[in-house]
Amino acid sequence: MSAEAVIVEGLEVAHGPTQAVRSLSFAARRGELMTLLGPSGCGKTTSLRAIAGLETPSAGRVVLEGRVAFDQAAGIDLAPERRGLSMVFQSYAIWPHMTVFENVAFGLRARRAKRDEIAASVRRGLEAVGLHALADRPATRLSGGQQQRVALARAIACNSSVILLDEPLSNLDAMLRMEMRAEFKALQHRLGFTAIYVTHDQEEALVLADRVLVMRNGLVEQTGRPAEIHDRPRTRFVADFVGVRNVFPCEVKQDGGRFVAILDNGVRLQLRGEPAKVPSCVCFRPISVSLSPRPDAQAMAATLIRATYLGDLMEYELCAGGLTIWARSLARGDLAEGAQVFWSVPPDACFLVTA
Ligand SMILES: Nc1ncnc2c1ncn2[C@@H]1O[C@H](COP(=O)(O)OP(=O)(O)OP(=O)(O)O)[C@@H](O)[C@H]1O
Ligand SMILES: [Mg+2]
Repeated sequence: MSAEAVIVEGLEVAHGPTQAVRSLSFAARRGELMTLLGPSGCGKTTSLRAIAGLETPSAGRVVLEGRVAFDQAAGIDLAPERRGLSMVFQSYAIWPHMTVFENVAFGLRARRAKRDEIAASVRRGLEAVGLHALADRPATRLSGGQQQRVALARAIACNSSVILLDEPLSNLDAMLRMEMRAEFKALQHRLGFTAIYVTHDQEEALVLADRVLVMRNGLVEQTGRPAEIHDRPRTRFVADFVGVRNVFPCEVKQDGGRFVAILDNGVRLQLRGEPAKVPSCVCFRPISVSLSPRPDAQAMAATLIRATYLGDLMEYELCAGGLTIWARSLARGDLAEGAQVFWSVPPDACFLVTA
């Protein structure tokens, strides 16, 4: 058996005149939790629906557990129920007139499974999400988090080795969302299914994933482990999307044995190593900026425009030669709005991206 549970090659999906997915390719390994991350309208839901067989692509291939589910060129297009996967929709798709048990059994009944087989599978699904005690309760008498669990139990009860999830936590409040994502990750580990998880929330994508796939306009912009995506975005789009904030067009020059990025306002930032390709912007995270009210050899002058309370941290907005620099640190009493401050960024924290 191939190590890849899901292979998508050159997938293209149009909604009338809108090309929602343009040549999407990726592969998810067996047991991997892959997140599809991208802004609204970039084609995440359409991609998931095309993998599930709920949309018909105009080109490409989908291979699930070594079996071709869709191949435009070869004329193969398996019906959704023959693809052996489950999908959890954003809306949960829970039937209000049914009990929890009946909701979870729904997909199995549609597949004409035997009665005792259904009972055993539903029990397994509900036990996995900790809802077995509520099996007979009407589905409407559940909290949002419990309804979300029912949707997940339904996918697990089908015993699919691949589960597709479309923003499954987006209807929950912030606390519950954090709790549920930890729970989901533990469950996915324990049961070992492959998950393709769609979200537009960068934190959720980074916390959950073994690998993140960042989408932009129907294409993959970057794929990598969460730390790679967070620490080393390769393009300006990904940098902006994962909250880098300080992204400036620059020119890279060699200065002695080192490379420096020179910003439009003349500010020079030292870089570590050699830039790989023609860069267009230098980036650094607000948390990487050191601030001081006193000058030192490495630091550059700026005016502190605003200090904003963020809870655990303060955010400082600086103006340095016409550019806005964002810094974050623990609250400190020695920095006053309107005063001159001195800032620096270590070479390790600066990286280059393409436009
Ligand atoms: N049924 C449809 N008919 C026409 N256009 C559609 C349809 N569904 C989606 N689209 C368009 O296809 C593109 C991709 O939509 P999709 O729903 O896949 O985005 P998404 O990444 O899931 O966005 P969101 O984060 O808002 O859910 C968008 O431009 C959208 O307007
Ligand atoms: Mg969507």
